[in-house]
Amino acid sequence: MNAKRLSRFLPPFLFAILMQFVAFFTLTHAAVAPTGDHLALLAIKSMIKVDPQGVMTSWNHSVTNFCQWQGITCDLRHHRVIILDLSSSGLIGTLSPLVGNLSFLRAIWLENNSFSGEIHPKIGRLFRLQELDLSINSFTGNIPATIMNCSNLQVLNLGNNNLVGKIPDRIGALSMLNTLILRVNILEGGIPSFISNLTLLETLYLGNCQLGGSIPDVFQRLRNLRTLVVSDNNLTGAIPPSFYNCSSLEEVFLDHNQLNGRLHENLGLKLPRLQCNHAVEIHTNHIDSGFWNNDYL
Ligand SMILES: *[C@@H]1O[C@H](CO)[C@@H](O)[C@H](O)[C@H]1NC(C)=O
Ligand SMILES: *[C@@H]1O[C@H](CO)[C@@H](O)[C@H](O)[C@H]1NC(C)=O
Ligand SMILES: *[C@@H]1O[C@H](CO)[C@@H](O)[C@H](O)[C@H]1NC(C)=O
Ligand SMILES: *[C@@H]1O[C@H](CO)[C@@H](O)[C@H](O)[C@H]1NC(C)=O
Ligand SMILES: *[C@@H]1O[C@H](CO)[C@@H](O)[C@H](O)[C@H]1NC(C)=O
Ligand SMILES: *[C@@H]1O[C@H](CO)[C@@H](O)[C@H](O)[C@H]1NC(C)=O
Ligand SMILES: *[C@@H]1O[C@H](CO)[C@@H](O)[C@H](O)[C@H]1NC(C)=O
Repeated sequence: MNAKRLSRFLPPFLFAILMQFVAFFTLTHAAVAPTGDHLALLAIKSMIKVDPQGVMTSWNHSVTNFCQWQGITCDLRHHRVIILDLSSSGLIGTLSPLVGNLSFLRAIWLENNSFSGEIHPKIGRLFRLQELDLSINSFTGNIPATIMNCSNLQVLNLGNNNLVGKIPDRIGALSMLNTLILRVNILEGGIPSFISNLTLLETLYLGNCQLGGSIPDVFQRLRNLRTLVVSDNNLTGAIPPSFYNCSSLEEVFLDHNQLNGRLHENLGLKLPRLQCNHAVEIHTNHIDSGFWNNDYL
């Protein structure tokens, strides 16, 4: 169980009480009548072909209280699954569409495994979901547009997969997003203009996604954006004017594109939080850095 991440979802005293309950239930083996969550979890397990670390060994019928299963955190009042954490477990398989039945889920952390197949549209049923991390897997197919229904999403990380197609415009409806990571996929189209609506966005990674076109002028209202990475794409054109209004920026990676134009000569004034070491990474473009020397950039 990832206690640090988990503690973000619960106030400290509740976290302590939860840990007490986990210990208590483990000792007493309290049996609870099966629910839909129980069946959905068994369906998820049935799609896992290889579990080299045995993280799902505890997911068996002899332990009827699924809240004790490794990687599961429950809401004790409702006895429903709120966190599914099977990250870095070496799992090989597909993700059952029945994950969409775990309707109390607030976080899915499945990063760094070998999940393949599509991200099923039923993921859109999880309207309480705040974090979805499926990065570093082998998911294929399109990013499901139904994800717009997960209107409480704050973190969406689908990076390092084999996802194809356009970034669905409907992601623009996820107004709570603070982290959007789609890097290293085989997407098409350009950087979507709906980004301008994601005013709470702090981290945007769209590097190495095969995106083309120009960088849209979408930064005007992004008052919280700290990290912008769009490197290793096929972006053309100039850096848009509103980029220089985005004074919260700390790190910017624009390198390995075909951008052109000239960096604003008052870059340091416009973007005062840029860190010297990272600053604006622009190499392998046709951008004239003006008097900004390349060691700084
Ligand atoms: C999953 O949810 C669907 C729609 O609510 C329902 O028909 C189905 O029986 C559920 N499956 C399980 C295993 O709970
Ligand atoms: C079921 O889970 C229990 C508790 O983790 C474990 O001791 C037991 O070996 C498991 N049984 C099977 C058949 O995997
Ligand atoms: C990925 O998971 C493996 C175990 O399956 C672990 O050894 C490795 O450190 C993890 N990598 C990352 C980047 O978390
Ligand atoms: C998404 O929400 C719409 C409207 O609220 C609903 O009609 C649709 O069935 C939902 N999709 C999923 C996958 O839950
Ligand atoms: C941005 O949000 C407004 C309402 O706040 C909505 O009308 C518009 O369609 C959204 N644009 C995109 C590209 O999602
Ligand atoms: C850029 O576009 C060219 C021609 O369409 C393509 O061959 C190349 O792979 C693309 N590069 C990236 C990084 O997407
Ligand atoms: C954005 O920057 C331009 C010039 O750099 C300036 O004229 C404009 O007032 C700024 N807009 C906002 C909302 O800060």
